Amino acid sequence: MRPKHRSAVPTVIPLASLLCALAALTAAQSSPIALTGVVSSEDERAMEGVLVSARRQGSTITITVVSNERGRYSFPRTRLEPGAYSLRIRAIGYELDRPTTVDVTAGATSELALKLRKTQDLASQLSNGEWFMSWPGNDDVKHGFLNCTQCHGLAPIARSRYTAAEFAPVIERMGRYAQGSTLKRPQFRPNAHGGGFSNPIMRDSTTSGREGDRPVQPSRSAIAAQYLSTINLSAGSLWPYPLKTLARPTGKATRVIITEYDLPRAEALPHDAAADRSGTIWYSDFGSHVLGMLDPKTGVVVEYPLPTTKPGAPVGSLDLVFDKHDDIWMGTMYQGSLAKFDRATKTFKTWGAPTLLDRDEARIAMVMPVNHDVDGQVWIGGDNEYQVDVKTGEWRVVDYSVGLPKDPPISRELSSYGVASDSKNNFYGMNLNGTYIIKVDAKTKQVTPYPTPTPNSGPRRGHMDAQDRLWFAEFRANKIGMFDTKTGTFREWAVPTRWTNVYDAVVDTSGYAWAGGMNNDHVVRLNVETGEIVEYLLPVATNIRRVNVDNSTSPPTFWVGNNLAASIVRVEPLGR
Ligand code: HEC
Repeated sequence: MRPKHRSAVPTVIPLASLLCALAALTAAQSSPIALTGVVSSEDERAMEGVLVSARRQGSTITITVVSNERGRYSFPRTRLEPGAYSLRIRAIGYELDRPTTVDVTAGATSELALKLRKTQDLASQLSNGEWFMSWPGNDDVKHGFLNCTQCHGLAPIARSRYTAAEFAPVIERMGRYAQGSTLKRPQFRPNAHGGGFSNPIMRDSTTSGREGDRPVQPSRSAIAAQYLSTINLSAGSLWPYPLKTLARPTGKATRVIITEYDLPRAEALPHDAAADRSGTIWYSDFGSHVLGMLDPKTGVVVEYPLPTTKPGAPVGSLDLVFDKHDDIWMGTMYQGSLAKFDRATKTFKTWGAPTLLDRDEARIAMVMPVNHDVDGQVWIGGDNEYQVDVKTGEWRVVDYSVGLPKDPPISRELSSYGVASDSKNNFYGMNLNGTYIIKVDAKTKQVTPYPTPTPNSGPRRGHMDAQDRLWFAEFRANKIGMFDTKTGTFREWAVPTRWTNVYDAVVDTSGYAWAGGMNNDHVVRLNVETGEIVEYLLPVATNIRRVNVDNSTSPPTFWVGNNLAASIVRVEPLGR
């Protein structure tokens, strides 16, 4: 603040206080660092790649920086206003040797060395990816359990004491829960109340059926149960295999500032979080029926209730997409409808076909309204894929057999998870259970499946860029994919760290593509020109789903919802 001369201010200011104020001002201006120090432990005098997080008392915002190759962490003054902060760290295998608080003052730089000690409880720090790395057996076996991290992590599985015979009914019990369940807040699938289980949770990840479609094969649960009884604590109080961990971040991966914004409800599951054109963040909630809005400048959150369109069915929404007018479209999952939020009136309009209301398993997950101005159609992904005419409210099921040979019946393999559209509003489905990007022509409905170069890659979700190139995540192959819809050709970039299981990918306007993984809290940044990849570790377990970038900032910033800690996370790399 620059001193102002106003007549109300006494003209005689005591000299001492004036000097004091000036000194503070100069210090504040000359020192861009508010808080800094070196991180060390008994084994390492200077620890690189330790995430240090600071939260001011009473605040809902946590700022994280990462220690550099000299072990030094530094918080810029622009990010920490004066106050009392509590600190936490993330460094696999370590913890702070005591609870740590520090005062940040306006003038001076606070210097605080952080001492870490070895944790006694490494298992509590393992990410899902680290559990997968540690578990014996080949990848095909482990791929069968990728579904298990949808509602909770692998820790409760690894910590369980069930024998093979006891585990089978547990696995079957899991099949009764709806997506949008957590350990603390289960929701049942609509037809699962009676006790029968409706969802074959153990699918063979190498085949391409639609999730939830095929009859249960009990033998599969039994085989899974047998395997799980070898990786849990059924045989003793220690795991019968060493716990493997990933290395801490180094180099560029340490040059980043991460901000976590806590949401007001502890049970919030911000599945999709995205910045609108003005940089305001909007999020869907996978387990509660609201649309949320976060102002990143203040941390203030406002939530708007989504209309109930199917009373009694599970609540929560998945996809959240802006159209060209920045209006917000959402898929309301088991509520079986497409919803649009009108910003001006702050009200929702919903489209739900009557047949959807009749059916128990109606599920509208993905929505693609971006190009609906072309032909008045919005594409939908869910229990089936649909094309909805927003004027007439007519829903047409996508027929994957149009124009494809009957023999072999390739269309049987086709289903989509994420959905995208190009500038002509043609449909592109991402074939999570298989290997294809599936084009459906908006006018002729001709279906063209394009296999990814990597077989069985599991395309999950993605974003079309301004040049009609689809950037998408290959979930099982753990690669970032790009499909050029104009030439029908692919590019792929392997994510260096295994078991990241990228869920989604997006390209920003400055030449980077971004992805994030469901299993190890890595945000992946790809320099599209050079192919260089940097993996940023998030400060807490996150189970990354939809990823988004805010191109209105310079450089663009990365945003993701945290489904395990009810927060929205921003990642800002420092330098290229
Ligand atoms: C659709 C959501 C969902 C999925 C997917 C899911 N679970 Fe669960 N899981 C839950 C919920 C809810 C609970 C807590 C309630 C309960 O125990 O039934 C739970 C609890 C557990 C527990 C701890 C409770 C106990 O009895 O020990 C284990 C073990 C477990 N799940 C194993 C699995 C395995 C193995 C898979 C994958 C095959 C899986 N889960 C997939 C929802 C899910």
